Amino acid sequence: MDTYATVVLAAGKGTRMRSALPKVLHPLAGVPLLVHVLKAVEAIPSSSVFTPLATTTTTHRPIVVLGHEAAQIEAKVGKRYLYVLQEEQLGTGHAVLAAQEVVDALDPLPQAVLVCYGDNPLVTRETLARVLIEHFRQRATVTFFTAIMERPSEFGRVVLRDAAGRVHEIVEKERANEEQKRGREINSGVYCFDRSWLWTALQGLPQHANGEYYLTDLIHVASSQGLEIATVSGTVEESIGVNDRVELAATEQVLRRRILERHMYAGVTIIDPATTYIDEGVTIGVDTVILPGTMITGKSRIGSECRIGPETTIEQSVIGDRCIVRNSIVEESTLEDDVRFGPWSRCRNSSHLAHGVGIGNFVEIARSTLGSKTEMNHFGFVGDATVGEHVNIGAGVVTVNYDGKLKHRTIIGKGAFIGCDTMLIAPVEVGDGAITGAGAVVNKDVPAGVLVVGVPAHVLRKVQIAENSMAEDNKKE
Ligand code: UD1
Ligand code: CA
Repeated sequence: MDTYATVVLAAGKGTRMRSALPKVLHPLAGVPLLVHVLKAVEAIPSSSVFTPLATTTTTHRPIVVLGHEAAQIEAKVGKRYLYVLQEEQLGTGHAVLAAQEVVDALDPLPQAVLVCYGDNPLVTRETLARVLIEHFRQRATVTFFTAIMERPSEFGRVVLRDAAGRVHEIVEKERANEEQKRGREINSGVYCFDRSWLWTALQGLPQHANGEYYLTDLIHVASSQGLEIATVSGTVEESIGVNDRVELAATEQVLRRRILERHMYAGVTIIDPATTYIDEGVTIGVDTVILPGTMITGKSRIGSECRIGPETTIEQSVIGDRCIVRNSIVEESTLEDDVRFGPWSRCRNSSHLAHGVGIGNFVEIARSTLGSKTEMNHFGFVGDATVGEHVNIGAGVVTVNYDGKLKHRTIIGKGAFIGCDTMLIAPVEVGDGAITGAGAVVNKDVPAGVLVVGVPAHVLRKVQIAENSMAEDNKKE
């Protein structure tokens, strides 16, 4: 069985991005550029032809070459990869050499080294597998991935030696003559090399006027030694590298389309893919419908048979089954099954809405828990509150949680009825089944089962609203 190790290059400065953030950390569909490449490498489907030596177990992982802002990238991308340092960025050829020691320390020694660029996030695991299969099948010294491009602009051009189509070399744009510049076959930037040949050949690379050693020059080295060079051709789409922000946006578009297609094939209806943005880490249940203008980010989980949107943002949140979220924002919160939310409302900071909660328009909920079947159908603010089940919160209710220095909690017992325009001056507790009259300013705890009214609120009489409203509710079901 043939074996390989993988080296991913990510040491470059990314000058063309004009950014304080290292290029490979720029997010694409919510995940750093480099992580897309690493995930594709890790997901290379297994084959009868080859074994991934540096990818499967904890000791055999992709080797990432870092240089510019190495510590920041390593911290962000995580410990599951092997990192090597290219102290001075002297080109892609020089960068691969930085991984020699780590590759040669693998046991058993890999026959081949797969090299990818960390700024090439659209390359798929299937293509990486094809490169490996061709490499081992043809017993090649070098195999690389190419594409045919109408206007290749910045890409390295593949130059053929003869009519039979054998490869002679790759020339970088700045060194290409006019005829070579017109060539349409480009180097996509994925290579597989015979390991024992690779290190010697890299040592012998010429240094260019800009001080760099080009990995691409290895093709000419192999062809002049009469060695076997294989190519695998693929789509232009998979070849797009991210060198500047225009390419970043182009890549983002492709990745997002792939994500949406994956969800649609899995049973999610997306009414308007052009205005729907779903991050890489999101999961969505079957028969959920996503309406136009919706953004679902982070590692959000959406259940089945929901209706999300239009014009809705769900950020790092969990939404249960059969929820309806319209024209609203849900951030870092959980909505259990059958919650109705919006339009034009916002739920944030670890709020939790239990089964069957109903939230209408212009409501803000922050750091609060609302019990099952509780409703708040009109404008108002609930912050730092624990609200029981079957509570009805009227229009204009505010939990007055901030005294100018500290935030305080409000507790509302089950079955309570908070009248319109009630101000709950926290810290304060309203007992089970209590009622507050319209416009009440509640600055003292309210016992269970009483009606309070006025400014400041005082007890008017006892009530039995809790039992009544819950009985009503049970009848409806
Ligand atoms: C490179 C290829 C070009 C190909 C294109 C495909 C070379 C010389 N040219 O050009 O033929 O068409 O990719 O996208 O390889 N890096 C290091 N250390 C360095 C320099 C670069 O790790 O010293 C890393 C970068 O971080 C980047 C990758 O190597 O991830 C490619 O470098 P980049 O400068 O972007 O090469 P291109 O100009 O795109
Ligand atoms: Ca590049």
